[in-house]
Amino acid sequence: TGSTGSPGTGTGFTPVAPNKEDAVVVPEGYEQSVLIRWGDAVIEGAPAFDFEKQTPAAAAQQFGYNCDFAGLLPIEGEADKYVLVVSHEYSTEPMMFRGYNKDAPTREQFEIALASHGLSVVEVHGQAGSGQLKPVFGKYNRRITATTEFEVRGPAAGSALLKTKADPTGTKVLGTLNNCSGGVTPWGTVLSGEENFNQYFGNAEKVTDADVAKKLKRYGIEGGASERRWENFDPRFDLTQELNEVNRFGYVVEVNPWDASSAPVKHTALGRFKHEAATIHVTADGSVVAYSGDDERFDYMYKFVSAKKVQPGVGASSMRHNMTILDEGTLYVAKLTGDHAAEIDGSGKVPNGGFTGKGEWIRLLETGADGKGKSFVDGMSAEEVAVFTRLAGDKVGATKMDRPEDFETNPKTGKVYVALTNNTKRGEEGKPGPDEANPRKLNKNGQVLELTDNHTGTEFTWTLLLVCGDPAAADTYFSGFDKSKVSPISCPDNLAFDPYGNLWISTDGNALKSNDGLFAVVLDGPNRGETKQFLTVPRGGETCGPIITEKQVIVSVQHPGESDDATVDKPLSNWPDCGTTQPRPSVAVVWKKNGGRIGV
Ligand code: FEO
Ligand code: CA
Ligand code: CA
Ligand code: CA
Repeated sequence: TGSTGSPGTGTGFTPVAPNKEDAVVVPEGYEQSVLIRWGDAVIEGAPAFDFEKQTPAAAAQQFGYNCDFAGLLPIEGEADKYVLVVSHEYSTEPMMFRGYNKDAPTREQFEIALASHGLSVVEVHGQAGSGQLKPVFGKYNRRITATTEFEVRGPAAGSALLKTKADPTGTKVLGTLNNCSGGVTPWGTVLSGEENFNQYFGNAEKVTDADVAKKLKRYGIEGGASERRWENFDPRFDLTQELNEVNRFGYVVEVNPWDASSAPVKHTALGRFKHEAATIHVTADGSVVAYSGDDERFDYMYKFVSAKKVQPGVGASSMRHNMTILDEGTLYVAKLTGDHAAEIDGSGKVPNGGFTGKGEWIRLLETGADGKGKSFVDGMSAEEVAVFTRLAGDKVGATKMDRPEDFETNPKTGKVYVALTNNTKRGEEGKPGPDEANPRKLNKNGQVLELTDNHTGTEFTWTLLLVCGDPAAADTYFSGFDKSKVSPISCPDNLAFDPYGNLWISTDGNALKSNDGLFAVVLDGPNRGETKQFLTVPRGGETCGPIITEKQVIVSVQHPGESDDATVDKPLSNWPDCGTTQPRPSVAVVWKKNGGRIGV
């Protein structure tokens, strides 16, 4: 089907070289500015940010910490006005609070951290003559935090596994945690993945039930105090006081940004794991497919196929119908085989014909119109598959991947792309060895997988688009494109498409001694595999949430200045306020001088 036109359309910019600048570095001819930063007012009347005098009440009205996913939704009938929805993955207390004591946080710090998680919904307006966007106070503006009430839907809703002392119904959860990436739905809502929720729950080693302990371990819930010691302040985070609260996190959540009073939803039909994100593809007949990766070394790739068809339009009645689409359908997990398995030795050497293979989507769980589930996994009930989805994947022999992060479907060709960020334990003693889709031992730099999936079916084929790293190294692959002409790329995380069908990739954890950044990759035609760096983010930061429109590139700069031992007094970065200020996670917008089209 579609093509990108002449090679490189949309990627016509001079690549940014790897660097260690404490700035957002953009190509010549482009400008950038901060759109919104940690502490900026989201709700009208919010106190001005004061780093030295933070309060929980102020934080609940201000832009949260560690921005990750960003979604930009046009306001119907209003030219160049949008609702921006951003997730706040986690709090970094040593960077947020002067003199923070990790062994004895205060109640106020705990409450500020709760308010700094979740999502922000902010109206933003374009500026005449440029691609710049500025936040305004409007009726959509909203903060969702770790204490906002959510409605649970799907097979696990109301099950014994989700009932707690505070919520005997098992259907109402306070808050969302570790909201990593996400997706915008065609019906105008935003999905967000609850990712590393394991880090918030303490005292797992005191759990005596061996079966429960095994499940906690499979989900990475280690014993001892939790990282932030929230269990000191709220028993729901203490596994000795409340065993089931942890089962109420790890879902895909859906937010309706057009109704600031609506309860966001947790969709248990899509399973529970460390959801990086969930991204939607709608087939020609209106079926909805939600792809989602479990971001863990040796974990799985999933898809959910809806039973219902999407209703076109974003009016109130379509919205009511479409917001139930993810309640009814089938959840699958992926199993991959390679065409050149015998040639894979862990070195990254490219087989003749590239890294290619076939795949199968294995059915785990079907959710019916009544919200009840049917399990296809021996020895597990539907509720168990919905809540302990990783164990279901283990039982059916799903393929253990190199940390599946974002998925994105190419709107021009329907091919599906998956960022596999890295896996430094691949091939270690006692760990799974390399396979054709995960071809390198001790994989520091990651790879990008391309699936040819008919979306609603159970079979697919695949190939590796990129095997990332230093292009001068023998173990990298750019689909055969001349490696002397590509930018070094490491640790692909989030994916997005520009209007021309080029894949844009943001990185997290660059292992090549440069700051993280954003790259554009040509997919079709003779330049397939051409990879160019569009920007880098400030020191210590991760590049997230990329949005590429005709007029702007938007990125979240997450955890600028962070390192293993950085504190308020020793930050790696002073971005964006400069001087000797503490760094502030922020969303940045980039546009072409004179208001031209990005990359053209
Ligand atoms: Fe929060 Fe998988 O990155
Ligand atoms: Ca991520
Ligand atoms: Ca994405
Ligand atoms: Ca990541």
